[in-house]
Amino acid sequence: MKIIHNVIQMQAIADQLKKKSKTIGFVPTMGYLHNGHLSLIARSVKECDITVVSIYVNPLQFGPKEDFKKYPRDIKTDLKLCRQQNVDYVFIPKDEQIYPVGYMTEVRVKGITESLCGKSRPGHFSGVTTIVNKLFNIVKPGIAYFGQKDAQQSLVIKKMVKDLHMPLKIKVLPIIRELDGLAMSSRNAYLDAKYRRDAILLYLSLKKAKHLIAKKLRKTAKIISQMKRLLSQSEFATIDYIVIVDADSLNEVKQLKAKTKVLIALAVYIGKVRLIDNIIVKVD
Ligand code: PAJ
Repeated sequence: MKIIHNVIQMQAIADQLKKKSKTIGFVPTMGYLHNGHLSLIARSVKECDITVVSIYVNPLQFGPKEDFKKYPRDIKTDLKLCRQQNVDYVFIPKDEQIYPVGYMTEVRVKGITESLCGKSRPGHFSGVTTIVNKLFNIVKPGIAYFGQKDAQQSLVIKKMVKDLHMPLKIKVLPIIRELDGLAMSSRNAYLDAKYRRDAILLYLSLKKAKHLIAKKLRKTAKIISQMKRLLSQSEFATIDYIVIVDADSLNEVKQLKAKTKVLIALAVYIGKVRLIDNIIVKVD
């Protein structure tokens, strides 16, 4: 496994690999790897000739009051995990190469970035699309792997790739959960025991919604109010948003219709830790 810090060097490696007709699989991450990341890496290793993992905590996607400075970092363990997964290259770029003095360009997807997480985190998604665009231009993958955990992010990336004719395929893989159902996240490291216990309520409320839909409840406002009731059991939970939206367009759905696919997504603060989770439900 090779560790690359330099942009030009990573591009040269990608060019060489492409000359030899190797398929490059790419997993962009912010590190502090867990089984969610590892599921993406394992799939890339299985499907592609070469796997590149990037580790970069991207300052551009954090708001001024967010956790950029204290975002968990553990490069040594990350590298060990990548080695175990037979990753070929780990790309760990330096800030001064990614955002040099005088850097002026941003990539922004409109529309679907303005609701859900985009509403409470202004500028977040243009930070994501800018860095992911740059990483694609550096790593030059044939396939890039993303997680359904960040449902809106995956849709935004797909839209960017389509709209800008980017020559690669995006694959979105399922959410990996802890045994009790909590979606794995690097930010779970912030949860101490009393918060960790209540964090499970996000998943429980999604399961509750799914159950209500199976029982033929069709008014989404009613489903959401039951989810809110469940979450209110926690004295530490503050809801940022709960939505039931069309799974592709993210348009709000008021009344569920047969044969449609909806995304039920939520962001909830447990104490000061903002957690997100979602499920896709097919309405029959
Ligand atoms: P990060 O939060 O490190 O996540 C990297 C990838 O892992 C994302 O595609 C995310 O959806 C996926 N992932 C995280 N938790 C997961 C889980 N429990 N199950 C399945 N997949 C999971 O997302 C980012 O980094 C950044 O925004 C990035 C795309 C790297 C751009 O900076």
